[in-house]
Amino acid sequence: MAELPDLWDVNISDWSNDSATSRFAPEGHQEQYIAFVKSLTSKPVVGVGRYTSPDAMVSAVRRGVLDLIGAARPSIADPFLPDKIRRGRLGAIRECIGCNICVATDPRGLPIRCTQNPTMGEEWRRGWHPERIAPAAKPVDVMVVGAGPAGLEAARALGQRGHHVQLLDARPEVGGRVIREALLPGLGPWRRVVEWRRGAIAELPDVEVFPASPMSAQDVLDSDARHVVVATGATWRRDGRGRSTGLPVAGHEQPDVFTPDDVLDCLESGQWRIPAGRVVIYDDDHYVIGGLIAELLAGRGHEVEVITPAPLISQWTQFTLEQERIERRLRDVGVQIHTRTTVQSIERDHVVVADVIDGGIDELPRASVVLVADRSPRTDLHDELLPALATGELSTLQLIGDADAPGLIAQAVFSGHRAAQQFGEAVDPDEVEFLREV
Ligand SMILES: Cc1cc2nc3c(=O)[nH]c(=O)nc-3n(C[C@H](O)[C@H](O)[C@H](O)COP(=O)(O)O)c2cc1C
Ligand code: SF4
Repeated sequence: MAELPDLWDVNISDWSNDSATSRFAPEGHQEQYIAFVKSLTSKPVVGVGRYTSPDAMVSAVRRGVLDLIGAARPSIADPFLPDKIRRGRLGAIRECIGCNICVATDPRGLPIRCTQNPTMGEEWRRGWHPERIAPAAKPVDVMVVGAGPAGLEAARALGQRGHHVQLLDARPEVGGRVIREALLPGLGPWRRVVEWRRGAIAELPDVEVFPASPMSAQDVLDSDARHVVVATGATWRRDGRGRSTGLPVAGHEQPDVFTPDDVLDCLESGQWRIPAGRVVIYDDDHYVIGGLIAELLAGRGHEVEVITPAPLISQWTQFTLEQERIERRLRDVGVQIHTRTTVQSIERDHVVVADVIDGGIDELPRASVVLVADRSPRTDLHDELLPALATGELSTLQLIGDADAPGLIAQAVFSGHRAAQQFGEAVDPDEVEFLREV
């Protein structure tokens, strides 16, 4: 059939292979199959494989792998990708991070979301353009406290609108949860959420960034800021309350019971605090973090058991097409998985677990425990500033991102972008804030 079609579009099904995430497949991961078809035909060949970098694209064409680059997710993350390449604006490309949040929302009938591009799916509904944003009618000084995904995006988009922005963060490096989570196995590309925004902010004349600048409410009030956006993020709960466990887990306050924040602190500082021996991970979050911590700890020589009340490990990652790959990887590194299992209590040297169907009790020996449960929004600064809003000392005060509602990085970026788009507008909470087809 080599010469039969006018063009070959080579793609290896199913969708979980075609749209593999960056954690499991590198850029150009289908090249061996595309190159095989190219070797048989003189007709043009197009292929996909999360081509985000112009270097990889040029290399694939020069190596004779294909003639035309297909880019689905890279074009979702940056619809102006070809235009930026044409104009040589390579640094301006907002590269897809390969997280598949776009995939997760699309077939479920939800408005599509993209971690990198908060305007995705909102072009018509809200009139948001991926590159342009309405200039501020009256530029003002805005202080954004917290430079995680929400704060970075809010500061960037407010700056693009022409406001004078001060972006502050308590930590020595901007990026918040993203740079921490990107330390987990395979999540390195997620850093692009921070890198692109840091680069975009550097181009803006009126956005100043101050890392290592913890702010108290008094510090904020002592400054000239009259418009404040609080993006202080969230903290993983220590008591084990999660999606299905509504009460604190008995025994959670013992030593050697950790949260994902503790594990990320170890990774960041290089000081490993998890004692040698068996770790029991309780995953009542169901997205990637529980499985990633299991993979990490197994890689560091721990015996690892993961328990989850869900019927599948990392159940929500079915929507990002990763669940089977995650489960396979955990099996490969020797992690024991107990599904439909919940924690009854944490004892000194074991965890009492219960089968969620028949209530059967079992005991799992443990040296340590990691509770992957809910996250609590950090609202202290916002709450302490609220009275200043009432007295008129502050003109506006907004709470955004995980500090408002802990969720996906995509939701934090969206929240930051929306805060910038709606800045200065009176939003009627009783009105639907986007267009609907009637
Ligand atoms: C949100 C989303 C929706 C998609 N919908 C379709 C579809 O309806 N039909 C199809 O053949 N491929 C669909 N795809 C697959 C893409 O066309 C493409 O083959 C795949 O994402 C791999 O290319 P990429 O690495 O450039 O993203 C979709 C991909 C995404 C991310
Ligand atoms: S949601 Fe993630 S995978 Fe999809 S286009 Fe955006 S960055 Fe890429």
